Amino acid sequence: MTGPVYTHQPVMLEEVLEALDPAPDACILDATFGRGGHARALLAKLGPGGRLLALDRDPEAIAAAETLAAEDARVEVVAGPFAELANVVGDLGLVGRVDGVLMDLGVSSPQLDDPTRGFSFQHDGPLDMRMGSDAGAPAADWIARASLDEMTRVFRELGEERYARRIARGIETARAEAPITTTGRLAEIVSAAHPAWERDKHPATRVFLAIRLHINGELDQVVAGLAAAVDVLAPGGRLAVISFHSLEDRIVKRYLRDQERGDPVLRSLPIPGDPSGARLRRIGGARRPTAAEVQANPRARSATLRVAQRLEEAA
Ligand SMILES: C[S@@+](CC[C@H](N)C(=O)[O-])C[C@H]1O[C@@H](n2cnc3c(N)ncnc32)[C@H](O)[C@@H]1O
Repeated sequence: MTGPVYTHQPVMLEEVLEALDPAPDACILDATFGRGGHARALLAKLGPGGRLLALDRDPEAIAAAETLAAEDARVEVVAGPFAELANVVGDLGLVGRVDGVLMDLGVSSPQLDDPTRGFSFQHDGPLDMRMGSDAGAPAADWIARASLDEMTRVFRELGEERYARRIARGIETARAEAPITTTGRLAEIVSAAHPAWERDKHPATRVFLAIRLHINGELDQVVAGLAAAVDVLAPGGRLAVISFHSLEDRIVKRYLRDQERGDPVLRSLPIPGDPSGARLRRIGGARRPTAAEVQANPRARSATLRVAQRLEEAA
């Protein structure tokens, strides 16, 4: 017997193809393979001499990438988080030789929709939320151990939740009675503690996002991934990043801006002989999905795409 098949609809697909605009023999790194929606469309643009590296930290995404690689010899699969991106690309001898990098951040629809992954307050399941085994312990362990202050900080800083302390207290009281091991139970506790329910927004939305970002170290991963992406790009190569919430987009926006200005703080590898240290040129500003796309795929509604190009190295 086989289980349900969860699918993912790629977001801002036309805009990504236009941004990366791969030549037929290009080498493209899809750093967030998911279920390969963007990857398949990019492969359709590549000729027989093109190459697509598929990276993801999620074992189910990697299994999907391996299925694609078995059908298409241009696909190479590299499993791991962004923090290891430079190493895995280095092992393939491709640092400075990648023509396009795509980072479509956050979670995929299969991760959200499969109750056994424990990401969603809408489907009851084990309170897990790990994107991959590299993320360490499941969310239930963190909820069992985190202090009141730590929970408050995570909910406030990563979830931008106004009632962070009140909710953290609700969790503390509930876990003293019985361990919180399911998404359904956590959603119930947060809903009961939340004093201001918003229209069209589940009261546990911000807390679930905060826990997910925290246990997967997602914001640190984004910084590490951006630095590695710039390092692996060939001069003239393009970087396209889609983010889904303001904290993530702020990191991307600042990172690209600092790399364009040559800010020495965030620069990961200096370019010898380049006095400004600028490594990127931003192409356009923030792009948003069309109204038609949001209507067809509501999960696209919060997407922001930013694009940059790796500068030529100074002689
Ligand atoms: C929005 S989905 C990508 C969907 C994909 N573009 C598609 O069309 O099917 C994001 C994917 O990135 C992966 N991911 C998120 N953060 C990651 C990280 N730090 N390192 C590696 N993969 C990551 C997730 O596991 C997920 O599969």
